[in-house]
Amino acid sequence: MNLILLGPPGAGKGTQAKRLVNCVGLVQLSTGDMLRAAVANGSAVGLDAKVAMDRGALVDDSIVVAIIEERIDEPDCRNGFILDGFPRTEAQAEALDKMLSNKNLKLDKVIEIRTDDAVLTERITGRFACADCGEGYHDQFRQPLVKNVCDSCGGHNFSRRNDDNAETVRARLSAYHSQTAPLLPYYRQQGVLGEVDGMLGVDEVTDQITKIINGS
Ligand code: AP5
Repeated sequence: MNLILLGPPGAGKGTQAKRLVNCVGLVQLSTGDMLRAAVANGSAVGLDAKVAMDRGALVDDSIVVAIIEERIDEPDCRNGFILDGFPRTEAQAEALDKMLSNKNLKLDKVIEIRTDDAVLTERITGRFACADCGEGYHDQFRQPLVKNVCDSCGGHNFSRRNDDNAETVRARLSAYHSQTAPLLPYYRQQGVLGEVDGMLGVDEVTDQITKIINGS
């Protein structure tokens, strides 16, 4: 099964993708994570991407399409994948359709995680993660059980994303509404769009997504 999770920054795409990896055994393909890895490595792609990411703007279509095309050819994607943060423009959606058709693959579901913009800034600006294992935390909603110790790996290093500040979040939300939300009618027309209420708790959102995947 091949899925797309679609929604604004902070909607819960990454949170839900990680849960689906554990419960349905699909691979999470996050273009945001891949681009951040490229930035951290100091590669040419990373240097190009960083300028756009720091502004909250989208990275060039050609860069992200190439990254995804290469990644879905890897053997771990054969049993299916969850696209988290891709596609984000009509050009990316069309490139994905072509890529899948050339590889004899199909898109099974596109799941829109619907949220009110008002909650997103708070969700994003409070977010931090364990720098060793990536476990996610939040200033208000989820602190480590023992202060400064990761619940998952016992690590003591925590990090915040460069683009998780109020000003950049405004630009990311604006990019979502102008460039990514127009994909919703595109996928509705293809008959693959499902919607979940991203304002519910994390467990309830997972339940709604699982129901859509199982066709119930
Ligand atoms: P990316 O990394 O994809 O960031 P994003 O889309 O802005 O999404 P986030 O990771 O911020 O949010 P999320 O929806 O995953 O929410 P999360 O689960 O973490 O992209 C970053 C940048 O890279 C882009 O701005 C762009 O520059 C570039 N880029 C990436 N892909 C690109 C592409 N295809 N084309 C061009 N450029 C691209 O949750 C957020 C917080 O909320 C967490 O603290 C979480 O615990 C909490 N939370 C989650 N769900 C709930 C819930 N139901 N209730 C309460 N809290 C919740």
